[in-house]
Amino acid sequence: MSESNLPRVGIVGCGAIGSHVARAIDCGEIKAVVSGLCDMDAAAADKLSKSQKSNPPVLSAEQLIAASDIVIECAAGSAVAPLVESCAAKGVALVVMSVGGLKPEHFALFENSPAVLHIPSGAVAGVDGILACAGGQVTAISLTTRKPPQGLKGSAALYEMGVSLDELTEPLVVFEGPPSEAIKKFPKNINVSTTLALASGAGDSMTVRIVADPTIDTNIHEVRLVSPYVNLFARLENRPSPDNPKTSALAYMSAVAALKKLTSKVRIGT
Ligand SMILES: NC(=O)c1ccc[n+]([C@@H]2O[C@H](COP(=O)([O-])OP(=O)(O)OC[C@H]3O[C@@H](n4cnc5c(N)ncnc54)[C@H](O)[C@@H]3O)[C@@H](O)[C@H]2O)c1
Repeated sequence: MSESNLPRVGIVGCGAIGSHVARAIDCGEIKAVVSGLCDMDAAAADKLSKSQKSNPPVLSAEQLIAASDIVIECAAGSAVAPLVESCAAKGVALVVMSVGGLKPEHFALFENSPAVLHIPSGAVAGVDGILACAGGQVTAISLTTRKPPQGLKGSAALYEMGVSLDELTEPLVVFEGPPSEAIKKFPKNINVSTTLALASGAGDSMTVRIVADPTIDTNIHEVRLVSPYVNLFARLENRPSPDNPKTSALAYMSAVAALKKLTSKVRIGT
């Protein structure tokens, strides 16, 4: 395929995930071109552009959407709503990493648009099996996430609870409750709980547990699902991104895999 026929991918958010996605396109792993970069921190977008062979332009969100076939959001929950509205209206496919920023009304906008909304599996595994089980009845689903304290540090919820993770010597449960509360309290740490709640159809009947654990150096996610037909247990030990300890390496690997799938004629997996 000549370069002019390749899908044009716009990247919103030029941090740990956005940089990996840009590099995967720049080196040809994803068969696409970067149509532009957008970040509220213009210097981050500029730095990423300069590191690419193709030196993609730094654009506003609206310019980026106009120049793209696919937009990938890897910024923050607050970036999601305007992108959803504009991409759905303009028929541009949208890949969302800050899944906790999605609202129920956003799905309806894509139902009435020629464009697709794609939610990658992110930092968990088992989403394929969970989607399949959602067709039957999911009796129960839970997620237990353990992170080293630096992966949870800076969370407003911990500050409000008066919890300091600095002197922690043993594991501490810092949250137990439904996914909608988990993402409100830990918006930068637990997007995977929203993905699992959506994939399973369980919504807030799912249980989320977050543990700050000073004895580990990986982000561990354990997913358990019980259904009449299948019981599923998935355990991930994720190396944190060297660029952002809150983000697991699998999250940016999943973003790259999602774009490969969207831009490919052969699609493996549910
Ligand atoms: N779905 C998952 O499994 C999963 C896993 C890890 C991280 N995430 C989420 O993905 C997002 C990106 O993660 P990351 O590790 O790359 O973060 P990061 O902090 O390394 O980078 C985020 C970048 O986005 C920019 N940004 C923030 N808000 C913005 C806005 N409103 N508009 C434009 N730019 C904005 C920041 O300046 C920064 O450069 C985060 O919301 C994170 O919580 C999701």
